[in-house]
Amino acid sequence: MPLIVGNWKMNGLKADGTLLAAGVAAKAKGNLGKGREVVVCPPFTIIERVQSKLIGSGVGLGAQDCAPKESGAFTGDISPGMIKEVGATWVILGHSERRAGHGESDALVRAKVEAAEAAGLTTIVCVGETLEEHDGGRAKDVVARQLQGSLPEKRPARWVVAYEPVWAIGSGRTAKAEVIGAMHRHIIVQLQRRFGKLDGVQILYGGSVKADNAREILSIDGVDGALVGGASLKSEEFWTICSAR
Ligand code: 13P
Repeated sequence: MPLIVGNWKMNGLKADGTLLAAGVAAKAKGNLGKGREVVVCPPFTIIERVQSKLIGSGVGLGAQDCAPKESGAFTGDISPGMIKEVGATWVILGHSERRAGHGESDALVRAKVEAAEAAGLTTIVCVGETLEEHDGGRAKDVVARQLQGSLPEKRPARWVVAYEPVWAIGSGRTAKAEVIGAMHRHIIVQLQRRFGKLDGVQILYGGSVKADNAREILSIDGVDGALVGGASLKSEEFWTICSAR
């Protein structure tokens, strides 16, 4: 069953965020569970408001980051337990905008994943190469290293990995189907080598997924869903993506 996750990034004040959530909820009501699963990840500040709009819709709720600790002197950080308390059950970790913009290392991402799982959140761990790494033919090595470093030792019951080539994010430049398919196969091989059986894992593609390319992307072998940025900010377009397979 495809999993479609909307990453709102730093978008959404109370008014437009609740409107967007209500729009997604209205489309989802009665349409989820039948071959599709949908999650939205708004900014921390409106998680609770968004949750009130999603009640009864079947749409899941997540955050976009969390701290690697539960409490303490960590100014500005939000713990997994805090996220859980306001009603979210998912969290995106290791997004390239955090790896690059906030200097997050694989080890930090792993610590966050472990803390999130300990709090009972389902993690969506992002990996993906930069344009320079892509052009230099290093994409597979980079992704293998990120998987090795960012995933915890213990395999959780349910987990999600998102392949997001950095050069495809927000650029309108989607990776070609063969590139996506090859990388997803590579990720599957890496995960099998490390964890053996792959029960409970889904591998999403992210990077300029839109209404007009979602069907093609979601039909690629090894692609179990999509992590959607810009196109998740309009309920019509997001729902078209959610309904694409
Ligand atoms: P875009 O869909 O805007 O390219 O963003 C992808 C992304 O970073 C989702 O996490």
